[in-house]
Amino acid sequence: MAKSLENALQSEAVRLSVLKALVDNSFDSILITDATKAGKILYANKAFKRLTGYSQAEVVGKTPRILQGPATDKNVLDRLRKALSKGNSFEGRAINYKKNGSPFIMHWRVVPAKVGKEAKVWLAIQREGTAVE
Ligand SMILES: Cc1cc2nc3c(=O)[nH]c(=O)nc-3n(C[C@H](O)[C@H](O)[C@H](O)COP(=O)(O)O)c2cc1C
Repeated sequence: MAKSLENALQSEAVRLSVLKALVDNSFDSILITDATKAGKILYANKAFKRLTGYSQAEVVGKTPRILQGPATDKNVLDRLRKALSKGNSFEGRAINYKKNGSPFIMHWRVVPAKVGKEAKVWLAIQREGTAVE
């Protein structure tokens, strides 16, 4: 990290505030889930609402499966499930559905936030894709 940034981020409170500002204001949708098998949503930013129509209050406690439907490619979900079970990251595209039921191509990446070797939460960075794989 550049020395000047390292100096600015010395305090834990500042580090948290910087991360929160980035995540809250990202143009990309950001979802954070717990690290259990269920993968319950803990946080969704404003861009998630713009992308899917669901507010954070509507999705906290649910799982990202609310976005899936009949045309969602099960092979992509299998690949994701396997990656998560090994603690690996994932990137893929699949049909998802907005709150109003309209389908769109979700292009997303899922990464673990680890402390040591243990995934504490999962983070997803999501945007509308142009083509399924
Ligand atoms: C952080 C995170 C974000 C996810 N975001 C999406 C998503 O945007 N769209 C989607 O179809 N599945 C998403 N999922 C995947 C599902 O929650 C679930 O892991 C996937 O369907 C595989 O598990 P299953 O076969 O038990 O359903 C996400 C998972 C995690 C952990």
